[in-house]
Amino acid sequence: MLFKSQLKQTNSNLQLKYIDLFCGIGGFRIALESVCSQYRLKDKKIESICVFSSDIDPDAKKNYEANFKEKPQGDITKIPIESIPKHDLLLAGFPCQPFSICGKLEGFEDTRGTLFFEIARILDYHKPYAFILENVKQLVGHNKGKTLKTILKILSDLGYYTDYKVLNALNFGLPQKRERVFIVGFRDPLAFIWKQPNILMKPLSEIIEKSVSEFYYASEQIQRNRLAKYQGNHQHKITIWHENKAGHISAYPYSCAMRAGASYNYLLVNGKRRLTEREMLRLQGFPDWFQLIGSYSSARKLVGNSVAVPCVVSIINSIFDAVDKNKFKVDQRKEQFIQTTLFD
Ligand SMILES: C[S@@+](CC[C@H](N)C(=O)[O-])C[C@H]1O[C@@H](n2cnc3c(N)ncnc32)[C@H](O)[C@@H]1O
Repeated sequence: MLFKSQLKQTNSNLQLKYIDLFCGIGGFRIALESVCSQYRLKDKKIESICVFSSDIDPDAKKNYEANFKEKPQGDITKIPIESIPKHDLLLAGFPCQPFSICGKLEGFEDTRGTLFFEIARILDYHKPYAFILENVKQLVGHNKGKTLKTILKILSDLGYYTDYKVLNALNFGLPQKRERVFIVGFRDPLAFIWKQPNILMKPLSEIIEKSVSEFYYASEQIQRNRLAKYQGNHQHKITIWHENKAGHISAYPYSCAMRAGASYNYLLVNGKRRLTEREMLRLQGFPDWFQLIGSYSSARKLVGNSVAVPCVVSIINSIFDAVDKNKFKVDQRKEQFIQTTLFD
């Protein structure tokens, strides 16, 4: 059985309880629920139940509630640990705070005051079977790799077997170059395999809306300025123009990573207009039933902060495969352990 005793079996359904930390607009939730709704294990259905969600941002909370009919709780640092229900899986795309946790590199104590500590605190108390964490790619190299090493050491001290990998949304079928580090952890030493999908990139023609209002168009001056700076010769019908920090313009048949705090004209469709809310959501792999409410600037922040859904879908599928395939091995190991203890 998946997640063994952690999963409750009801009739032909397996229940997977999870918590959605730093939930934003719910990218992790969309991924998990879509895998569970498709997943079949020996004719059994996995029913995913979100038992707790939290985000500090009022715009994120409003959008999450509008789409999932559930109001996330607020600041995680203020939530008593006992009020978070028991769960099997913890999901968290935690904020990329300036990582200050490496100070003396002495472990758990040093993480106090960072939001990673909140995750560690919950893992320590509730001991869910598995977790998926996400952060910016820069975490891997931060402080010469010491920050990530500290995080992994803390997770291991808490009893988890971990692995991490930088995934690029471009390799998961999305026309967005978005590299993020994902960390997975399990209470058993599962042979987790990061899938290397070879999914063809969705063309921008399937993302870009045919006609959009004047609101999205950059001023004539900005359009002229972009054209003057652009040296390339693009052959694609639709490209997304990207301005880097040095002011260089490039045009690709995909988008560069959407960023919450980027300037308004950082990404321009064909060098002319900004992305619509729907286009931004599609670039993250959100389904079209998802509705964004609020201002355009709040949409840019929320979607830019969110996660590429197909990357999470792939990880969840890998977790289910690993738990399923390793059940026998893990049970065997436990049996050996029991026998050794009995015969000692
Ligand atoms: C990188 S985003 C994660 C977005 C999410 N994965 C999604 O799909 O939209 C980090 C989120 O953490 C939230 N956050 C920051 N500090 C927080 C705190 N103290 N308590 C709860 N949420 C917090 C931010 O508002 C933001 O939505």
